This record gives sequence, C-alpha cells and structure tokens, in this order.
Amino acid sequence: MKAVIGVVLLGVVLPALSKDCAQLYEENGLSPNFNETIAHAIHSLTLNELRKFNPLAEELNGVPVVNPRLNDPTETERVIPHAPEEEINKNFMSEAMNTIDLVMSQVGQSGDQFGTNWPIVARIVHKFHMKDTWAKIKEEFDLMKQPAKDLCVCLKDTEKNGIFQAVDWVARQYRTAPLLTLLNKPLPKLKDAKSWEVWRARLVQYYDSQAITDAATYLSCVLNHTS
Ligand SMILES: *[C@@H]1O[C@H](CO)[C@@H](O)[C@H](O)[C@H]1NC(C)=O
Repeated sequence: MKAVIGVVLLGVVLPALSKDCAQLYEENGLSPNFNETIAHAIHSLTLNELRKFNPLAEELNGVPVVNPRLNDPTETERVIPHAPEEEINKNFMSEAMNTIDLVMSQVGQSGDQFGTNWPIVARIVHKFHMKDTWAKIKEEFDLMKQPAKDLCVCLKDTEKNGIFQAVDWVARQYRTAPLLTLLNKPLPKLKDAKSWEVWRARLVQYYDSQAITDAATYLSCVLNHTS
C-alpha cells in the first residue's frame, strides 16, 4: 500500500520538480524583469518592516539588502544577505516622526549609506516612498495564497536568480551616482513643486501592479503567511 501511495505521489510531484525555474516564474505570473522589481522592493528592507508582514520573521531571513553601512571603508560587502534590524529610537510619538529622526541621525555619520550623493530631502522621500511601497505590497501579500514550494525554492535562491545581483546594482548606484536618474531617466534636483511633479511621476511607476505582485510573491515565499 505504501509503495502504491509512493508511486502515485511521485507521479504527481516529479513533473513539477522537473520544471525549470524560468518556466515556473512565467506560469506563476512573475514578470520577465522580476529581478529588478523585487530588488527595488527589498533593497532597503529591514527586519522591523518584515515583521509587519509576519511577526515571526527572523534575523536569518535571506532577504538581501544594500549594506546600511555601505560607505564604511571597513565594510567589505555592498550587499548583506539578511535584512537587518534597525534601531528605532522612540524620541517622538509617531512612527513617521521617529523615522525622520532616524534618517536625520544618519546623515554624514561614518558609514553613511548614501554618502555625499544624496541630499537630505531625497533621503526622506526615499525612506517614506519605500515604506509606502511596502504597505502597498502588504495589501497584496495579505490576499495572496502561499505560493507553491517549487516556485519558492527558485525565488529564494537569490544568488542564482538574479535578485541578489540586482540589489548589488542598486548598491553600486548608491555609491557612485549622484541621484540624477531613476528608472534610467534624468531626475531634477528636488527643490520645488515643479521638480516634485517629475519625482512624483517617476516614483508612482514603482507601484505598477505587476511590480507589486512580483514583490508580494517573493515575500510570501520568504516569510510564509501566518494565517
Ligand atoms: C535583470 O535580469 C535581466 C534578464 O536576465 C538582465 O538583463 C538585467 O541586467 C538584470 N538587471 C539587473 C539590475 O541585474
């Protein structure tokens, strides 16, 4: 009887296992450039934010992010393999104000991730844009069924599937580019309502529903759903 069940199970499982990752990405609705959409979504994730998706998220979470101490000459990695816990002080009342506190407390400090390339207002916009993107991803994450195991095996192998490399691309941009482009288009200095209009138009492109689905699928694989 056991042997029969074994054979039946093998018959079901084997065809799935024999599919390659590229096929699984396509069948499960990931975009051809999921490496880039997912890298954008995760490049500055923290354990604190992962816990909003799943309170059981762990330190060894396997989500590669740009090294928060990117410009510390003693750091050897541009990308670190696990989204780290961020120490958020509670000097203020709201999460928003404590986030401003955190951003401002890092400017010009040793190892400052953005070095001299990023003006202060851009740092604040970036931080809140990412938090906003995660909120959008979470909306979809909460509605999503747990993706199939074989798909998750592929998606979590970030060194092989190009996600790690795309996060590293972001890290190299942080080091070298004076924030002049976003999505390969020139970006004006953010200084008034008119320049903000350009920034807004550029930023909202990251909320494209395909990009959000890619990221929600990846995070579902990494974190599992609690319910
Ligand atoms: C993402 O993957 C595509 C297709 O493999 C590749 O051409 C592109 O360079 C990758 N992007 C990054 C930023 O690594």
